[in-house]
Amino acid sequence: MISETLAKARAYEQAKDTGIPKASRPGFHLSPRCGWMNDPNGFSEYQGQYHLFYQYHPYTNQWGPMHWGHAVSRDLLHWEHLPAALAPDAPFDNFGCFSGSAITLQDGRQLLMYTGVRREEKADGSCEDFQTQCIAIGDGSNYDKPDCNPVIDVKDIPADFSRYDFRDPKIFREPDGSYACVVGNRTNDGSGAVLLYRSEDGVSWRFGGILERCNNEYGKMWECPDFFPLDGKAVLIVSPQEMHADGLEFHNGNCTLCLIGSYDRAGSRFLRDSAQAVDYGLDFYAPQTLLSADGRRIMIGWMQNWDVYLCPPDAQWYGQMSIPRELSIRDGRLIQMPVRELEAVRSGKVVHENVLLTGEMSLEGVSGRMVDMTVTVTPEDTAPYQMFCMKVAADSRHDTAISYCPATSTLRLSRVRSGINKDVVHERECCVRNRGGEIKLRVILDRYSVEVFVNDGEQVLSAVIYTPQTAGDVRFESCGKACLRVEKYDIVL
Ligand code: FRU
Repeated sequence: MISETLAKARAYEQAKDTGIPKASRPGFHLSPRCGWMNDPNGFSEYQGQYHLFYQYHPYTNQWGPMHWGHAVSRDLLHWEHLPAALAPDAPFDNFGCFSGSAITLQDGRQLLMYTGVRREEKADGSCEDFQTQCIAIGDGSNYDKPDCNPVIDVKDIPADFSRYDFRDPKIFREPDGSYACVVGNRTNDGSGAVLLYRSEDGVSWRFGGILERCNNEYGKMWECPDFFPLDGKAVLIVSPQEMHADGLEFHNGNCTLCLIGSYDRAGSRFLRDSAQAVDYGLDFYAPQTLLSADGRRIMIGWMQNWDVYLCPPDAQWYGQMSIPRELSIRDGRLIQMPVRELEAVRSGKVVHENVLLTGEMSLEGVSGRMVDMTVTVTPEDTAPYQMFCMKVAADSRHDTAISYCPATSTLRLSRVRSGINKDVVHERECCVRNRGGEIKLRVILDRYSVEVFVNDGEQVLSAVIYTPQTAGDVRFESCGKACLRVEKYDIVL
């Protein structure tokens, strides 16, 4: 039996299906079936398909009482929308089914673990919200919320840790088969922390330990933690709120932070070696990973930023996911590359080699808005170029510019001219490895986004753009002589 609230959401989204033309959405980045989308949830493989749920408010293009939208895919690029999976319809989640994760139980059923937000109205008319961790169990389409909810309650939070900011459980299996989950939290001094809980069956949970806390070093509340082994290390990814910029490494506001270290399983503690940003662009938050059947750690993020709401007023959908990225560690740093499945949907290869660039030029066959393009730039002679710039989604009035300055080894992404009508942050810069003036950029364009993978995944910069689709030119510019190699494919789904 599904609740009235869920039935209403399902009927609403089904009625919207025909009204949103495919060409008005991203081609291979998941967007909501209708309405608003934020964080990826329950990113998992189940019964031979990838499942991706998401924070969802079907009724408007703004955040509202959170449901879980649901989509499936076999290649992480072609997504099929399924009916909404969860709605805020129980006493323990009456104000929203916030972010969470999914896992397959030993008996083959799919377990969703999420934050139920319970709003209590007080006698004086004011409200108080409580965040607790809840479960729903199902068959890949329909999910029941058992009576034992919430499974991690306010009483399971240690003293000195927030009872109000306690959310986004990410569940995983320990090598001995038991279950564990990490939950985002903040200590009473306001700073970010991650709590770890343990369970034998995924249903009954106990406090395990304080996995990590930042003592105000990396922002305030840590949202959406994910914790996993990678290339012999333990990786903890969190999305801190109220972050302060630190040079070009972190930016203000909602950020994504990757901590690399080791895991003291017996002590339920993470031992941190290093910290870095996950994405250096404008739009990336709340990522979540899965381990694929073929052993890849794949991450997807919400390609949006809480502080920048760029929704066209009449938009039928708002919010999209990043391209899924394969993760690895090289020289102690997180490396991210687009999933290899992208290669199977590429066609119309165009290659230009040894192009001498001085001033501005465009190249035969290099254009489009659904594109996978790798550009390698090298200095042409003994006098290195001072600046290289490529402009994508361009016409006479618009472009999104990616520029590299070898002297400082900084890369800048700017959507100032992308057709935006708001005066908010539209540019970001990051330091990249100095390779004597050489740089390799893999640029993935979908209709409403630009993602730049630098030097085989050492940095990534993501941004959404709302440039008219007719702006499909690509232009190259340099100050000084540079040599270009361009390999470009159209993405055809
Ligand atoms: C992160 C977040 C989560 C929360 C969800 C609510 O973007 O704030 O912490 O669960 O969004 O939609």
